[in-house]
Amino acid sequence: SRLWWVVPAAGQGRRMGAERPKQYLQIDGRPVLAHTLERLHRAIPQAGLCLCLDSDDRWFDSAWVPFDDWRRVKGGTERVDSVANALAILAGEAADDDLILVHDVARPCVWIEDLWRLVEVLNGEPAGALLAAPVADTVKRDDGHAHVRTTVSREGLWQALTPQGFRYRLLCRAFDVARERGLAVTDEASAVEALGVSPRLVAARRDNLKITHPEDLALAAHILATQAALELS
Ligand code: CTP
Ligand code: MG
Repeated sequence: SRLWWVVPAAGQGRRMGAERPKQYLQIDGRPVLAHTLERLHRAIPQAGLCLCLDSDDRWFDSAWVPFDDWRRVKGGTERVDSVANALAILAGEAADDDLILVHDVARPCVWIEDLWRLVEVLNGEPAGALLAAPVADTVKRDDGHAHVRTTVSREGLWQALTPQGFRYRLLCRAFDVARERGLAVTDEASAVEALGVSPRLVAARRDNLKITHPEDLALAAHILATQAALELS
């Protein structure tokens, strides 16, 4: 069976508030999008790629795509709609048991070793799997007015990261059911969970940050530089 990267990259980056979508901000002379795609390609060069881009995108340059086999997919209103468009494009092309790995374009710092480990787990895990990190901070729930109502035990709590990987047939079914039931789907795993299937949590390095707020760009640049230095040492 084959492996496909699905990379949603059709967001506007509102929280970043930059003059362009955050995936086109530069780190070390190249846009975030180029860093992310390069990393996915280094991990699994023979994979196919579906890249979800806004129809009005005027920043994209195909020179940043290192994959031989890739297609541009129309972005949707929400992230889940962008991913659903990619699944639709793959109909007739992907086999039922092909692996679909969905990875946010805004996560350029994911470790290649973690990508390999995830794929290794996925080969023996029909329920699918996602990179995740145990919650490190103490978590509070508010009373609706910025006062603490309760402290939530962080025991057994994980932060969901990406990639999240599933067999093509399972993910399509999960998305269909989520749409029928009108479920709010914030990540692929939550759609699969709604089927009563429990994806595996794969502990990942926690510097796999999603560039979201203005201060994250310098942080991501620092992480990438540190990772590059480690690789050379
Ligand atoms: N995304 C997408 N299609 C959308 C919305 C988001 O493909 N309609 C992608 C983004 O490009 C990003 C990922 O989904 O790679 C995670 O979304 P998020 O971090 O929320 O990015 P944005 O939506 O761009 O940022 P914001 O919510 O601050 O506007
Ligand atoms: Mg968003």
